[in-house]
Amino acid sequence: MKTAILISGRGSNMRALVEAAKAPGFPAEIVLVLANRADAAGLEFAREAGLATAVVPRRDHEDDASFEAAIQAELEKAGTELVCLAGFMRILSASFVETWRDRLINIHPSLLPAFRGLRTHERALAAGVRLAGATVHYVRAEMDDGPVIIQGAVPVLAGDDAKTLAQRVLAMEHRIYPQALAWVAGRKARVVGEKVILEGAGEDKNAFLINPPSLPKS
Ligand code: GRF
Repeated sequence: MKTAILISGRGSNMRALVEAAKAPGFPAEIVLVLANRADAAGLEFAREAGLATAVVPRRDHEDDASFEAAIQAELEKAGTELVCLAGFMRILSASFVETWRDRLINIHPSLLPAFRGLRTHERALAAGVRLAGATVHYVRAEMDDGPVIIQGAVPVLAGDDAKTLAQRVLAMEHRIYPQALAWVAGRKARVVGEKVILEGAGEDKNAFLINPPSLPKS
């Protein structure tokens, strides 16, 4: 499945997806890495990896609609069938989200629906939760909302600060996002009644999506 990745910065999740997609038989092909900032560090990795890249800054456009139309044009030019948001720091309109319904996924650094929005690790620490983690989900018009594809939990340890917790969560993000992409691009994930059904998952009675010691094969 022809897949575009949208980034705004470091791009470490994009990198994890690009590396995963190199495996023989992986069901997604990365056809575009698009950033809304020319200085997004991840662009350099993408260029060096020989991937098609595009930069679409919001400030080059009069309004959100023309900004999104420019993104849409780049996606179409690349033949995109699936879009992965990976640290893309712009809210996309309801109409854009609807255009890509069930073909647009995002990673968020919390166990949704807890801690939508920004500064998730600070807020998790302030709330005193014992488990933190990350979620890959289909995108809906509400921010950080939509059917959950996979979640990975990590412990909150004594002495954690936002930085150490973020590092632990990020390592989990890099495990679960490639798995989610494999499921979605491999057409093993389906949205039914705003919940995700995974083909074959019903045979496994273990709660393998939660804090997996190792992830199941796609
Ligand atoms: C990640 O924590 C992701 O969950 C969030 O933004 C961060 C992006 O990091 N949406 P990176 O650019 O993938 O390194």
